[in-house]
Amino acid sequence: MRKKIALIGGGQIGQILAMLAAQKEMGDIVVLDIPDYVNPVKGKALDLMEMAPHGNYDANITGTSDYKDIQGSDVVIITAGKPRQAGMTREDLLSTNIKIISAVANGIKENAPDAFCIVLTNPLDAMVYTFHKITGFPKSQVIGMAGTLDTARYRAFLSMELGVSVADIAGTVLGGHGPTMVPLPRLTTIGGVPLTEVANQDLIDRVVERTRKAGTEIVTLFGKGSAFFSPAWSAIVIAESYLKDKRRVLPCATLCEGEYGINGLFIGVPCLISAKGMEKIFEIKLTDEEKERLGATKAAVQKTVDECDTFMS
Ligand code: NAI
Ligand code: 2OP
Repeated sequence: MRKKIALIGGGQIGQILAMLAAQKEMGDIVVLDIPDYVNPVKGKALDLMEMAPHGNYDANITGTSDYKDIQGSDVVIITAGKPRQAGMTREDLLSTNIKIISAVANGIKENAPDAFCIVLTNPLDAMVYTFHKITGFPKSQVIGMAGTLDTARYRAFLSMELGVSVADIAGTVLGGHGPTMVPLPRLTTIGGVPLTEVANQDLIDRVVERTRKAGTEIVTLFGKGSAFFSPAWSAIVIAESYLKDKRRVLPCATLCEGEYGINGLFIGVPCLISAKGMEKIFEIKLTDEEKERLGATKAAVQKTVDECDTFMS
C-alpha cells in the first residue's frame, strides 16, 4: 500500500510540496485547506493529477477541507497560516497564526495521531512549540523545518561567492529561524577543505549576514508573501528521510531537553531523522563565541514562546 502524505495548507508552499511529493512518488497526497479555499486546492490537486502522464508518477492527489480525509497519514506537513508581507517580521504573524496552528493541531491530533509532523508556519520556533504542546505527541514525532532551509541558503550563497559546486559545500546553521540564527563557518567545508582556509573573513561575514536575512531578502523582492520553492524542498528532504529511513542528519527545530544548555524550547540543532522520526540530537562542542550567539538566539526564541504561552493562558 502506498504511503499517505497530508499537506495542511495548500497555498504557495503547499502546492509546491504537493508537486514535489508527487514527482518523488512519496505516496498519495491530501491537501487540506479552509472551506473558503477548498475549491482552489481541489483544482491544484486535479491539475497535478493531469500532470502525471508527463511527470511519470502514480499518486492519488486530492483537495479537501475535511480532517477525516487525512486519517491514516504517515506524514503531515503544516504550512497553514499567514506568510510575511514586506516590512513584517515573522513575529508579527504570531497572533494570527497561533489560532490557526491551534485548530490544525487539534484536527491532526484527532485524525492522524500517529503521523510524523513537520511544521513550517511562522514564527516557526514558537509555532512548532505550540503544536507540540497542544497535540502532546512524543517529541520524536514533531519537528520544525527552518534550519534545513537556512543551511540550504547558506550553502547556496557560499557556492555563489566561491564559484564551486553547492554539492561540495557542507555546513550547518543552528538556532532560531530569524536574524539571530547561528551559521557555523568554523565547521564548514568545501570538498573537505575548511572554509576558513579558502575564504577571507569579509566573504564569510557577508555570507553569514545574507543567510540571516535571506527570508527578508525574498519578502522584499516579492512585496507580498514569502519564499516557497526552497522551503518546500527543505521540508520534503525531512519527510523523505523519515519515509525512506534515509537517516539524514539535518538541522531541524526539535525539543531540546538539556542539549546545548537549552531546556523546553524547540530550536534548530542537528537531528538524525529516521523511520523513528527525530531519533537523536547531535551535540557540537561550540567555542565561547558560538555559545554566546546560541545564547542570543535562545533568548529570542524564548521571548516568542513566552508570548505564545501568554496567548494560550
Ligand atoms: P500561503 O498564504 O500561500 O498559504 C497558506 C495557506 O494556509 C493558505 O492557502 C490558507 O488558506 C491556509 N490556511 C489558513 N488557515 C488555515 C487553517 N486553519 N487550516 C488549513 N489551512 C489554512 O502561505 P505560504 O507562502 O504557503 O506560507 C505558509 C507559512 O509558512 C507562513 O506562515 C510562512 O511564514 C511560513 N514559512 C515558513 C518557512 C520556514 O522556513 N519555516 C519558510 C517560508 C514560509
Ligand atoms: C523565510 O525564511 C519567511 O520564514 C520565511 O523565507
